[in-house]
Amino acid sequence: MTILIEQPERGLQAVDKKVPSETRELVLDGGFVVPENTNNAGFFVPESNSFGHSFRDYEAESERKESVEEFYRLNHINQSYDFVKRMREEYGKLNRVEMSIWECCELLNDVVDESDPDLDEPQIEHLLQTAEAIRKDYPDEDWLHLTGLIHDLGKVLLLPSFGGLPQWAVVGDTHPLGCAFDESIVHHKYFKDNPDYNNPAYNTKNGIYTEGCGLNNVMISWGHDDYMYLVAKENKTTLPSAGLFIIRYHSFYPLHKSGAYKHLMNEEDAENLKWLQIFNKYDLYSKSKVRVDVEKVKPYYQSLIDKYFPAKLRW
Ligand SMILES: [Fe+2]
Ligand SMILES: [Fe+2]
Repeated sequence: MTILIEQPERGLQAVDKKVPSETRELVLDGGFVVPENTNNAGFFVPESNSFGHSFRDYEAESERKESVEEFYRLNHINQSYDFVKRMREEYGKLNRVEMSIWECCELLNDVVDESDPDLDEPQIEHLLQTAEAIRKDYPDEDWLHLTGLIHDLGKVLLLPSFGGLPQWAVVGDTHPLGCAFDESIVHHKYFKDNPDYNNPAYNTKNGIYTEGCGLNNVMISWGHDDYMYLVAKENKTTLPSAGLFIIRYHSFYPLHKSGAYKHLMNEEDAENLKWLQIFNKYDLYSKSKVRVDVEKVKPYYQSLIDKYFPAKLRW
């Protein structure tokens, strides 16, 4: 397996500018109470998702609850170390199609994410809502705006032309393989039917890893995060390491929400995690009924795509 080494990025300092610390704790806490607002100057936090519930509430009685639980049952049974290894090898070839970033944004419009209890709108709205909300609060971090726009593009894996992978292999929260499944992982009970669960090489705290080895050396369950990371990296993006980290780990809620698996991080991961935690609240709270005029903002995002990516990418 190829081990990709990322260079630490200099000059980028994660500063959570707008949200008061007590609010941020609520935001990052699982099953949280949604605050009324942050402050007037900052990012507006809507109180409920598209279904009128608080965000990431896996117990709320919604039309989606049962299908979300069934989704995680399949995810936890089927995502094994060997499965992820095979997927990384197969999709790492990037031999399916050539297209631009914007073409991919448009392609993604046909996709609905079943694992998400909050979102019921076309993906491009979510991408632009996320990017625009970040842009408002962090006007100088253009790489972070673009990261917001592209972070979910890997969901094209659901489309027939990308192998039509089942939802459990594309979306939902992610977690490491090759070491014990942490209790904080949503619907943890279903891991007992995963082939790795009783494998003594994989079911201890460190498993096949050593403490501080760095997340880059850790196998994470397969999905749109890791795929988009591979696409960006192999097409030689000039996004900073924090941008790639956000793309790769934004669904890794056990880490960035619950603080699990921190013993596997290295120093660079710890720096990048600060940016991911800033990013995450925009990813979550932009899933609301705010509309974005796509044609109006497109020229700005096209200029960022030109700055950080080649015109055509291999997917
Ligand atoms: Fe995502
Ligand atoms: Fe997202």
